[in-house]
Amino acid sequence: MTALPDPSVRPAGLADQFGRVARDLRVSVTDRCNLRCTYCMPAEGLPWMPRAEMLTDEEMLRLIGLFVRDGVTQVRLTGGEPLLRRSLVELVAGIAALEPRPKIAMTTNGVGLERVATGLKEAGLDRVNVSLDTIDSETFTQLTRRDRLADVEAGLEAAADAGLTPVKVNAVAMRGINDDSVADVLAWCLERGYELRFIEQMPLDAQHAWDRSTMISAGEIHARLSERWELTPLPAADRGSAPAERFLVDGGPQTVGIIASVSSPFCAACDRTRLTADGQVRNCLFSTTETDLRGPMRDGATDDELLGLMRGEMWRKRKGHGIGDPGFVQPDRPMSAIGG
Ligand code: 5AD
Ligand code: SF4
Repeated sequence: MTALPDPSVRPAGLADQFGRVARDLRVSVTDRCNLRCTYCMPAEGLPWMPRAEMLTDEEMLRLIGLFVRDGVTQVRLTGGEPLLRRSLVELVAGIAALEPRPKIAMTTNGVGLERVATGLKEAGLDRVNVSLDTIDSETFTQLTRRDRLADVEAGLEAAADAGLTPVKVNAVAMRGINDDSVADVLAWCLERGYELRFIEQMPLDAQHAWDRSTMISAGEIHARLSERWELTPLPAADRGSAPAERFLVDGGPQTVGIIASVSSPFCAACDRTRLTADGQVRNCLFSTTETDLRGPMRDGATDDELLGLMRGEMWRKRKGHGIGDPGFVQPDRPMSAIGG
């Protein structure tokens, strides 16, 4: 691990040694989930985090407030499935009350969103990303091991009605499961005005079964969609730190995004930092180390001490995720306990 340099020369804020500064905080509010997507969890689920190790709302808000004080301008709530945290609406309201108020987004599987979309909007949620890999009910059940496609569709509709817009849909393509129907998902999203983004499957499954040779690459997605539509790339300048390469579909105005997280990593422009439900700061999805804030906080650490720990973790951020390097080791913590 790199030693921290003299604080008098280290820049303030959540900076790293490669000139990147964190602005986008992803908070995993629970590691629990009501689906069992095969690329994420085994059928029997995972041993969930003990409650006592999870941050209370008050603790979570204190830490999020410190991140905001240190330059974070967007907070994204993730899981597991964030809607399973019972106090989610209050948590959103607490984040919306921070000054300066960050943008608030959520990545959800959409199950149960129908009931709470309006309440979340009123509490201050700005946008949602809903994960949906297929619009075929049988494939959905095979992929998520739960028969809940109708709930997700209802959740998406409720999100759009509540003004949680633009409503985005995230899809992961898997060979032999939904790879031959990616165009159907796009057609479905275009009809409803949802902005679809495909994400290359990453080695973050709890079962460690990911295999690069079977991964559906961004190029393959592009080729499949191009059979049905003309895709015109949007200028890279419009992309900023957003990982998706976006294309106008048949001249626009609607777009589709393709996120080549593995085959063409966007690490150089990454502005993300992460807080887990048990109070660990992670500087990368793929980092194999993390910094505990919960222990020090419960032992009475001051705000400045906690800020020092957050900055230290970010300063150690590696240049890239290194998937494909001979020494690459998948993190112990699965995606469901890190947050997307
Ligand atoms: N690779 C890519 N995306 C994944 N997601 C979950 N696991 C993986 C993985 N191994 C996606 C979910 C959701 C978001 C949180 O990340 O489908 O959209
Ligand atoms: Fe749940 Fe998301 Fe994992 Fe699917 S990918 S099992 S929705 S946490």
